[in-house]
Amino acid sequence: MSADRIKTGIKTLDEILDGGIPKGHVILVAGSCGTGKTTLVQQILFDGAKNNNEVGIYISMSEEREKLIRNLEGFTFFDKKLIDTGQIRIIDISQDARLMGINMQNVQGLLNLIRSVVEENNAKRVVIDSITALCEALKEPEKIRDFIFELGMQLAYSGCTTFLISEIPPQTFVYSVFGIEEFISDGVLLLTEFERKGELLRALQVIKMRGVKHSRNKYVLKILEDGINLVPMFKAGEV
Ligand SMILES: Nc1ncnc2c1ncn2[C@@H]1O[C@H](COP(=O)(O)OP(=O)(O)OP(=O)(O)O)[C@@H](O)[C@H]1O
Ligand SMILES: [Mg+2]
Repeated sequence: MSADRIKTGIKTLDEILDGGIPKGHVILVAGSCGTGKTTLVQQILFDGAKNNNEVGIYISMSEEREKLIRNLEGFTFFDKKLIDTGQIRIIDISQDARLMGINMQNVQGLLNLIRSVVEENNAKRVVIDSITALCEALKEPEKIRDFIFELGMQLAYSGCTTFLISEIPPQTFVYSVFGIEEFISDGVLLLTEFERKGELLRALQVIKMRGVKHSRNKYVLKILEDGINLVPMFKAGEV
């Protein structure tokens, strides 16, 4: 593995990505509801903190902080100590913005808020869950466009590896709601669902990852106590 990669800690995903995600990449994690987006990125943050001593910031728009932590408690990768020591920071951006008197429709205000959280904590891995909800709060298409492009530039400059969660409707062939999120992204991970024998299963596909030779095969994604498990689709009958 080359030194300029970050391991996700999800063994099969690191193998698919030939060692991991190139450091500093902006990754769009797209999927419909319940496909495992939050679990995937949380596992990556906890792995970075635990095994690489990297500070991870999780910027939440969709879920309450305490509820989110409660949901994570069932996973073996979760470690409360990492939250208590500030190695993992979970931030409710609408609450922080309110406290600082920043309107949720203020593009520059939000960009500055994100920049200062990342810089003050010397973060190496950052998640925005979700970019869709954050953009929806901006309301006006022009503001959304400005925000996405400026955020892309800001993140590229920061050197952090960033995961933007994109909430898309089920069974669609788009990766984002506003149609521009994928263009500021160096990589796209697509989480989908499909039915087999009456059971709704989850799947993951690497759609793009700049600078990496990777497969675009579909993998069955299982959420188990140890987090995300991936099995190639053609072998999935064996698990
Ligand atoms: N400890 C666990 N063991 C197994 N499965 C779990 C566990 N915790 C959660 N799950 C499964 O994970 C699903 C939620 O996954 P997650 O929150 O990562 O999805 P998401 O794509 O972020 O969803 P949303 O669209 O609601 O944000 C739950 O519906 C449940 O099926
Ligand atoms: Mg989620």
